[in-house]
Amino acid sequence: MAVVQAHLPDLVPWARTVEAFWLDPAEQARRDRFLREADRDAFLARRCLLRAALAERLGIEPAAVPLAPAPGAAGRHGKPAVPGLHFSLSSSGGHILIAMGPRDLGIDVERVPDFVGGEQMSAILHPAERRRLAWTSRRRRPAAVARVWARKESLLKAMGVGLSRDPSVDRVGAGRFPGHPLPGWRILDLPLGSGGEDARAALTVSEPWTDRRSKM
Ligand SMILES: CC(C)(COP(=O)(O)OP(=O)(O)OC[C@H]1O[C@@H](n2cnc3c(N)ncnc32)[C@H](O)[C@@H]1OP(=O)(O)O)[C@@H](O)C(=O)NCCC(=O)NCCS
Repeated sequence: MAVVQAHLPDLVPWARTVEAFWLDPAEQARRDRFLREADRDAFLARRCLLRAALAERLGIEPAAVPLAPAPGAAGRHGKPAVPGLHFSLSSSGGHILIAMGPRDLGIDVERVPDFVGGEQMSAILHPAERRRLAWTSRRRRPAAVARVWARKESLLKAMGVGLSRDPSVDRVGAGRFPGHPLPGWRILDLPLGSGGEDARAALTVSEPWTDRRSKM
């Protein structure tokens, strides 16, 4: 298992030098659909980093990485996949995280919102998470909300369903340690280190030897 962490703005100049050689026609078309330059740059940076990281693991050229969305519960927005390697990517604010490994996984990073944004994000969580967050002091609440969202989205991305599954269903926990809402999936908080104080991150990995179909 490997986690790659990068600062998005630092990658943009490099990504611009390799994009013409690495992106496939579908990726170029997607890049060209972004109206704002900042969104285009963010897509470019994370896609070039993803190709570089996967190429390293697979021992092939970045342009040869066969990236494709897997058909899944989220339809055409299914979890992207490459044969023989599991990976997950997330970006928020200036942060990019990529996790790769031999088992199913999902990663998420969430920038700490402002107070009002945090209250909106909190409103659609599991009732027990909302209650716990409501007891958290006003000063600490936005970071606590970002932590719950990172846990939640890492789980939903590991499962491949994303936000097509209602975020109020699975109780990932708003306390100090993540919960264990579904058999077969282990949620871990990820420290972001220096420079990561403005965001929270989590990784969900599949546990071996568990039949995940049994209790979903
Ligand atoms: C997956 C999802 C949770 C991502 O959330 P986000 O906070 O906006 O973005 P993140 O940076 O954390 O993750 C984006 C990455 O998740 C991955 N991803 C996309 N769909 C995914 C899925 N169903 N399962 C797991 N990972 C997925 C991709 O690698 C994507 O990177 P890309 O945009 O460069 O291709 C969200 O987009 C989602 O729920 N999508 C599926 C549900 C859906 O179809 N919604 C309707 C959209 S029109």
